[in-house]
Amino acid sequence: MGEIDMRALFSISYGLYIISSKDDDIINGQTANAVTQVTADPPQIAVALNKTTLTHQCVKNSGFLDVSVLDQTAPLKIIGIFGFNSGRDFDKMSQCNFKLGINGCPVILDHTCAVLESKVIDSIDLRTHTVFICEVIASETLSKNPPMTYAYYHSDLKGKTPKNAPTYEIFSDEKEDTNSKEESKMKKYVCQICGWVYDPEEGDPDGGIEPGTAFEDIPDDWVCPVCGASKDQFEPQ
Ligand SMILES: Cc1cc2nc3c(=O)[nH]c(=O)nc-3n(C[C@H](O)[C@H](O)[C@H](O)COP(=O)(O)O)c2cc1C
Repeated sequence: MGEIDMRALFSISYGLYIISSKDDDIINGQTANAVTQVTADPPQIAVALNKTTLTHQCVKNSGFLDVSVLDQTAPLKIIGIFGFNSGRDFDKMSQCNFKLGINGCPVILDHTCAVLESKVIDSIDLRTHTVFICEVIASETLSKNPPMTYAYYHSDLKGKTPKNAPTYEIFSDEKEDTNSKEESKMKKYVCQICGWVYDPEEGDPDGGIEPGTAFEDIPDDWVCPVCGASKDQFEPQ
């Protein structure tokens, strides 16, 4: 086997999607970038899902999944809600507008430029993940907004990827700023789980933190508004 340079794999391009499905009376979705079209006629896609996710369970049991293509207006928050929380602990669908497709799975309507409804026709077991091969049975364009790319998510939104995603970047925890441990009041702090940045000038009004509150003065039981991580998961930017 030759040498593996993980950075070479990070040069593969992706979009960013919410994969949704159902299982009896459960409806749920998760963020994913590992989605690609594989044939045109019939239109088929491949989607790689970690076996531990609730969405994986739903897709396996129902045999259906939908893809909501996020557009570039999507904030870190929606990607975080669906990407750093499990529907096993929290009703994600109550956090967004959605409609049920013809296959009974929900499609997300917020910050979505297109939706694909599909039926699973095959699957490949890859130990940690299953690749579901699906035939698109209905699709719709919702807006002309450009689709979100995985590169944009990292470069402009400063988003991160959790360990169970197929493209987890082991280098994303590397510090760019060697002075980041310096203490200073009114410094910005970054959530090490999802990448959301606490800016003291803005505070977190929805979480009860007034603008102008230094990170050090936030109560210890405050949690990241995007992924729910505790205060001790933040580091100076
Ligand atoms: C940017 C991003 C990309 C992700 N890509 C994938 C992916 O392609 N496949 C996957 O299984 N999980 C991926 N994840 C992780 C899942 O979204 C995450 O495990 C989610 O909490 C599962 O939710 P569920 O248990 O409600 O299904 C990604 C997360 C983020 C934030």
